[in-house]
Amino acid sequence: MHLNKELQRILDGKEGIIKQEALRSLIKYGDAMGAEDFVPITSAHTSFLAIDVVALAFPPRKRELSQEDIFNFTKEMEKTKVKVKTTINPGFIDRSNWEKIGATKEISDSVRKTGIIAKKCGIISNFSCVPYINGNIPLFKDHCSWSETSAVLYINSILGARTNRDSYEISLYSALIGYTPKFGLHLDENRKGTDIIDVQCELESRSDWGALGYFIGDKVGVGIPVLKNLNRPETEDLVQFCGSMSSQGSTGMFFIPGLSPEAPDLDSALGGNTPKNIYIFGKKEKDDTYKYLSNKKSGKVDFVFLGCPHKTLYEIAKIADLLEGKKISPDTRLWIMTSSSFRREAEDLGYAEVIKKSGGELLSDGCLGLYYVNSPLNRPKMKFIATDGAKQAFVIQKSFNSKVLYSNTKQCIEVALKGGL
Ligand code: F3S
Repeated sequence: MHLNKELQRILDGKEGIIKQEALRSLIKYGDAMGAEDFVPITSAHTSFLAIDVVALAFPPRKRELSQEDIFNFTKEMEKTKVKVKTTINPGFIDRSNWEKIGATKEISDSVRKTGIIAKKCGIISNFSCVPYINGNIPLFKDHCSWSETSAVLYINSILGARTNRDSYEISLYSALIGYTPKFGLHLDENRKGTDIIDVQCELESRSDWGALGYFIGDKVGVGIPVLKNLNRPETEDLVQFCGSMSSQGSTGMFFIPGLSPEAPDLDSALGGNTPKNIYIFGKKEKDDTYKYLSNKKSGKVDFVFLGCPHKTLYEIAKIADLLEGKKISPDTRLWIMTSSSFRREAEDLGYAEVIKKSGGELLSDGCLGLYYVNSPLNRPKMKFIATDGAKQAFVIQKSFNSKVLYSNTKQCIEVALKGGL
């Protein structure tokens, strides 16, 4: 790969061994992907949750690191700064409520210590899976290196920025260097629609957008879908749509002609391509997707989970409205997950108090899947879960063997109030 003077300096070790190693890894990655050049980036979204896990991406590259390895890595990392705006994905715990979600003090201490290191490196530990609407918002045609499911789709398709579906390691290396290998979705020729999705039913709720996203991810795989006949979404519809689409298949972008900045119309979205397939998403396909994502329709519900991807302040306000003056069932837990900045605003504005009075819990910083894996003690009963996140419905069924109801937010709240359905 071609290196400019700045990159050559880094490769020569003039900016420390962490950056030197990050660049070596990016060169190998770029070579493997057929890239010839690097492109400067303006932002990264990565993971930086536990320093002993971050250390695994750097020498001595052992399966298990000794305390001395981690100590040495930490010393070097603390001296190294990222070159672009860098945010991080949700983690194992709610930093202010770690006991409530069943985490141990050891996990909490490790997250806190890693946060201090991240700060020294210039990384913003925002623990959000929707940074693109809160704190890390790239501009049209910005090149970036982002990991995380809904985020990659959203910034490519709705903001017109450019990123591949990078891993946590690649996005961290790129953040440290300020460049990423130029291939895939960084190039104009790879940003053209391959398949058409003809939407022939009404999308009446945000969970309908989730069902549509899930359906498309399943059908299109690695292609670039172009959507036809859509009603105009709200931002939050698109967040749900992007999160769901990326839980199936590996597509990194889509076009909504007239909304995606690069596609004023269908022809420009296709960029001269003849579509490989035209898929119809009608009432039957929508119903089938709900059936697939819900494997139980009635009974006592132990746990209602809202917030995959993280809820926005607007959604929290709507949920508070539905809960105002009511009490959730004593046998059901209601968790609403968001980022800590939205939670603080919800506290200031009184929405958090309404949720608390109803018996619900507004939590932040976390991802339910990571909570489960890292805090096996004291986690909520989860035999039968209701959720309004299609990605979460899929993850819960596949990873935790729970029964799941996938439905819209309003019905999930009703289930929490009644304790079942
Ligand atoms: Fe976010 Fe975790 Fe869902 S990272 S999109 S809450 S699976």
